[in-house]
Amino acid sequence: MRRKLVAGNWKMHGSRLDNGPLVEAILGAPTHANVECLICPPFVYLAEIARELRGSTVRLGAQNLSAEAQGPYTGEISAAMLRDVGCDYVIVGHSERRTLFGEDDLLVARKFAAAQARGLTPILCVGEQLSEREADRTHEVIARQLDAVLDLTGIASLARAVIAYEPVWAIGTGHTASPAQAQDVHAFIRQRLAHRDAKIAASLQILYGGSVKKGNVRDLFAQSDVDGGLIGGASLKSEEFLSIMAAARG
Ligand code: 13P
Repeated sequence: MRRKLVAGNWKMHGSRLDNGPLVEAILGAPTHANVECLICPPFVYLAEIARELRGSTVRLGAQNLSAEAQGPYTGEISAAMLRDVGCDYVIVGHSERRTLFGEDDLLVARKFAAAQARGLTPILCVGEQLSEREADRTHEVIARQLDAVLDLTGIASLARAVIAYEPVWAIGTGHTASPAQAQDVHAFIRQRLAHRDAKIAASLQILYGGSVKKGNVRDLFAQSDVDGGLIGGASLKSEEFLSIMAAARG
């Protein structure tokens, strides 16, 4: 059985004042052998939060990284630096990076490889725009985003990765995918990977992201190929996030 992963993507939110009580609430939540909890704060808070999480089962991740290992890249953060301050995970290819910061499939694949080269587990985000769904191109878009990574790093790399399906039209909009829509895409992803390696596909965690809240999470998590969530807005409110963690425990 795959473990569930509940990951909070704080995006560009938070302050030292606000983070403390939120982290404290998450640390106080009941743990469960089959549920992992992960938080992804902005870079500048990682080291401090890593200290607060020490000794707990809550894991730390970053929201982005450089595709380069080191060097004259002003303003960039490397995979090694993220490891150095205590990250285990890093999000790559989030739709906000793709659409607002021009990250293409190849750059996302290079970031995925850079993360793994330093022992970080990449959370690869894939998802279609509304216009692509309406044109019935959802599977085609997801396949293209997946294949860019597979072509660079190979199927074996998926044994040390997580995928997050985040339909762009559901992010921050309050319009979540229906449980059936999420299940359809998750099953498509798993089947596509199973053609290359059935065992890796069967054990891969595939998260759903996009307007997940305590009110809709149970039906989403009940889908057979939904292995948890990548939570944006609701990860900033301890009561919401703890309810989502509780739903993952079943
Ligand atoms: P929301 O949960 O705010 O829709 O954000 C989802 C997301 O983008 C998580 O990475």
